[in-house]
Amino acid sequence: MSQQHSAAPAPTSAVEGRPDWWRDAVIYQVYPRSFADGNGDGMGDLEGVRTRLPYLRDLGVDAVWLSPFYASPQADAGYDVSDYRVVDPMFGTLLDADALIRDAHALGLRIIVDLVPNHSSDQYEWFRRALAEGPGSPSRDRYHFRPGKGRNGELPPNDWESIFGGPAWTRVTEPDGTPGEWYLHLFAPEQPDFNWEHPAVGDEFRSILRFWLDMGVDGFRIDVAHGMVKAEGLPDLGDHEQLTLLGNDVMPFFDQDGVHDIYREWRLVLDEYSGDRIFVAEAWTPTVERTANYVRPDELHQAFNFQYLATHWDAEELRTVVNRTLDAMRPVGAPATWVLSNHDVTRHATRFANPAGLGTQIRLAGDREVGLRRARAATLLMLALPGSAYVYQGEELGLPDVVDLPDEVRQDPAYFRGAGQDGFRDGCRVPIPWTRTGPSYGFGDGGSWLPQPADWGGLSVEAQTGEPGSTLELYRAALAVRRERADLGAGDAVEWLRAPEGVLAFRRGEFVCVANTTGESVPMPAYGRVLLASGEITEAAGEAKVPADTTVWWSAS
Ligand code: NOJ
Repeated sequence: MSQQHSAAPAPTSAVEGRPDWWRDAVIYQVYPRSFADGNGDGMGDLEGVRTRLPYLRDLGVDAVWLSPFYASPQADAGYDVSDYRVVDPMFGTLLDADALIRDAHALGLRIIVDLVPNHSSDQYEWFRRALAEGPGSPSRDRYHFRPGKGRNGELPPNDWESIFGGPAWTRVTEPDGTPGEWYLHLFAPEQPDFNWEHPAVGDEFRSILRFWLDMGVDGFRIDVAHGMVKAEGLPDLGDHEQLTLLGNDVMPFFDQDGVHDIYREWRLVLDEYSGDRIFVAEAWTPTVERTANYVRPDELHQAFNFQYLATHWDAEELRTVVNRTLDAMRPVGAPATWVLSNHDVTRHATRFANPAGLGTQIRLAGDREVGLRRARAATLLMLALPGSAYVYQGEELGLPDVVDLPDEVRQDPAYFRGAGQDGFRDGCRVPIPWTRTGPSYGFGDGGSWLPQPADWGGLSVEAQTGEPGSTLELYRAALAVRRERADLGAGDAVEWLRAPEGVLAFRRGEFVCVANTTGESVPMPAYGRVLLASGEITEAAGEAKVPADTTVWWSAS
């Protein structure tokens, strides 16, 4: 499989900007299949993204992270890659990727692509060869093949479970037709885990990094960045509780110290390239302190703060996680990386619409009005913290999760494998609405690969643009303020101010942020000029009333 690459010289990272731009950047996650459909086949694509870049520039983000668009049988929506250097025809071609990168740079936007190094697709050439060449062949060493336990090898080699549910091992039929060895897959069976002990794996990924760096990308989001190295001997978990993504001890398959050697090598590759390019880790570690290990000065630049994402709309919990994060990041000199939503969790407008404690996979609509109010307030709080922040497509429209998708349209492999931890991710992946009316609300001319709710026209970009108080205008205003004022994302600390129970108040220079997480309005001192608020503030005689579930930004000057 090969695609023509443009004859034009490879774009270097051409965005003018501050060095260390990423330390306080706001980065927008595009989930390509659900963002915009350029060719009307019902599936989003790179051309769709390219034509919507001006929207992202006007929204005020600094960079765009694209979930995988590489050749893939789509067993896990592209996180099962069968060729890392080819664009899947469903998303376009390498020429489309090239055009997207160039246009983004011309608009001052950087492009971050996804890298999936923990596993490949079972259709990746190496895995097909490993199956065909049989036990004992060198090609099997690039993955984790093992004989089974039991009299006839009928039991899996160890007791690990897949994140998507069921055993983390699948038995193969050997070329001679007999039941044979088992291979490890922490995710779906179509996603065999690479054996990172094998030098060819490292060589291949350094080459893949260079391929995309030469294409001009500004960085990589590393999928399952905590998973590539497994504990020596693949030990059983035994009585140890089987994983959930957060809140566990270090597992023999996650967050092993050996992953850091890989990142030190990758950093050397990245640093050969001009343009302040970055790595961001998707690393579900048990604590923010362990997350900080990924962003030591010679490793990665950012690591998503999933402890923050999983925090309830509760002032005390939020204060604790903010303090702990900033304390953990300060010694390694890395910024915090805040995030509230992505393509793997229930959107925060729906999480906050439900009672606390239901986790990050929720199938209930809850109280949508409360959820949206809290989501807007949570976003303003996030954007006031020191560090970088990620925004997931559609959250700027206040989209809720689609909780009532009929089972027959679902595509999440975790759903079909007994749910595991992530069974209901389709609800946050429904294509976003651009226009009030029309086929798929402007997503494309050919419908949408997941059905959109009937009321989504009212949430569309068109319906919210220029509408005072709309969530889209709130995001635009917040990002504009963040661009104007260095004091929002900068630094590594906040100065907490006294505040009633359930209220967070902090100062950063002349800037003050107050977030009321309670269901009642609270009186607060008016700290100066209101820069922005997620709800209606009333002020009189030096006092401000901050309504329930509302965040306010003030400037002393
Ligand atoms: C994390 C990705 O975000 C998720 O969508 C995917 O299913 C797993 N990694 C496996 O690649």
